[in-house]
Order: sequence, then structure tokens, then C-alpha cells
Amino acid sequence: MPIEEAKISVLDRGFIFGDGVYEVIPVYSRKAFRLESHLRRLHHSLDAIRLDSPHSDVEWASIINELITRNKEPDQYLYLHITRGVAKRDHAFPIPPVKPTVFMMSNPLLTPPAALLQSGVSAVSAEDNRWLRCDIKAISLLPNVMLRQLAVDAGCAETILIRRESVGGGSFMTEGAASNIFVVKNGQLLAPPKDNLMLPGITYDVVLEIAAANNIPHEVRRIAAAEVFIADELLLTSSTKEVLAITSLDGKPVGTGKPGAMFSRLYGLYQDFKRDVMRAG
Ligand code: PDD
Repeated sequence: MPIEEAKISVLDRGFIFGDGVYEVIPVYSRKAFRLESHLRRLHHSLDAIRLDSPHSDVEWASIINELITRNKEPDQYLYLHITRGVAKRDHAFPIPPVKPTVFMMSNPLLTPPAALLQSGVSAVSAEDNRWLRCDIKAISLLPNVMLRQLAVDAGCAETILIRRESVGGGSFMTEGAASNIFVVKNGQLLAPPKDNLMLPGITYDVVLEIAAANNIPHEVRRIAAAEVFIADELLLTSSTKEVLAITSLDGKPVGTGKPGAMFSRLYGLYQDFKRDVMRAG
């Protein structure tokens, strides 16, 4: 239906409590990209909030394909949102459970324009003050909204999040407010580990697979905050942004201040992969 006609109850727990989870799935040439991985992450999020999936994977795949078919663009981005449903306002789960609310929409997938790929984007850093379950793709995104706005206020594209160690005085990089972040130093690609402090990105997985398949030196390990500020290159990844170079951080150039060799290599390989694997399906 047209988006203006879609309605939910004001008592929906997604509206009242942000009690739900979501997925963003890119579609290339009418094929949902890595659907199995997105559904696996969706189940991880649903399990974490103790909500039973309202559909089997076969049903999800069929609803998703129907949505793709009903929209005209070959490249789309699908937004899938599940809440605990409509109930009288009480923080605790409704007894008996109510029917979850499912909302999906398709938008045209607009990947970054050529000018942005050539210039790279700027970022700011900020303390990661979110909770300890950032692995859940929760719809309650107020901390991410506030953090991302810091970037926009500074005329930047993204906020790189720095988490303070709970013990000891150290601090380390987790991710971006709405993306994963990679660091490049001395020709090596560094990625933070997928733990409870970051969203396990599907694009992040693809980039690491591409690095492994092409003998690009890489390591997955905790990245100290100090390493981010002396990086040769910084890269941002997400389903809608794909791979982008971050060329300035807190007003200072990253490396040469231009997208570097690692970015060019990975971006090229990512586009090859998209053409040969994703579009071919
Ligand atoms: N965001 N980390 C956070 C906090 C994110 O919100 C996202 C994606 C990612 C990257 O995950 P993936 O590669 O699977 O897109 C990492 C989506 C695009 C969004 O909220 O719109």
C-alpha cells in the first residue's frame, strides 16, 4: 500500500517503548542481498529481546520477494521492523503475548555518488555512551540518533564511537553511529571484533571476506582509540553506504586527507563482487 495509508496503533509497544527490532536489506537487480545473513541477524535480535519470530524463514523470504516485486526499482533498500505488538501500557511483556506488529517498506537504494567516493567523507569522534547490547538491531535508536546528530551539526557524515574501558583508563573504537568502521595502518586492514558492543554488520562481513579472498593483510582485534587518530586510512561500511573513505576526523586529515590505496582496492573489489556475485544472485 502507499506509505501514507500504513497505520499502527498509538499503543504499539514499538511506539511507546521502542520495543522491537529491525533490519535493513539492500536489493541489487531485484535480489535481496545475503538474505540468509540478514534473517540470521534478525533471529539473533528477536531471541535477544525474547520475541518469537512471527514468520518462518520461508515465509519471510516470500514476503520480502513480494515487496521487491511490487516496487519498480531494480536496486532497493528494504526496511523490516517487528515490534512486540499492541498492549495496555506496562513495561513488562504483555500476558498473554499479543501479535507482533510487522512493518516493511521499500525505498530506492541510493549508493554514494561518485563525487563522495572521490572526496571521501568527514567524521567526528564521540564517546560511545550506548548500552551493552549494541549487537541487537533494536529500533530504540535514540543514542544513535543523538550521536549521529553530532556529526551533522559539525557538517560531517558520521560519528566514530569511542568506548571507555569499564576498568582501567583505556578506550577503544566500536563502530559508527550507523555504520561499521575499519582502520588501515601500514597496509593492514584492522576491524574491531563482533561482540556485544557493536552491530555485526553484513557489509563488514563482506569486506573481511573480500580481504581474505584477495590476500589483503587484515586482523580482527580490539582497536585502541589512539590508533584511530593516527590511522593511514579510515573506512566506513553499511548496507546503504557500501564502502566509503573517511578522509577527515575531528577537523584533521586522515592520512593524506584523500581516499587511500586500501579504500580504492576494497571499493573496486566490492563493486566487482556486487556485479559478479550479488547481481548474478
Ligand atoms: N545501519 N552499525 C550500526 C550501528 C548500524 O546502524 C549499521 C547499519 C551498521 C552496518 O550494518 P550493515 O552492514 O548490516 O548495514 C553498523 C543501517 C543501514 C540503518 O540503520 O539504516
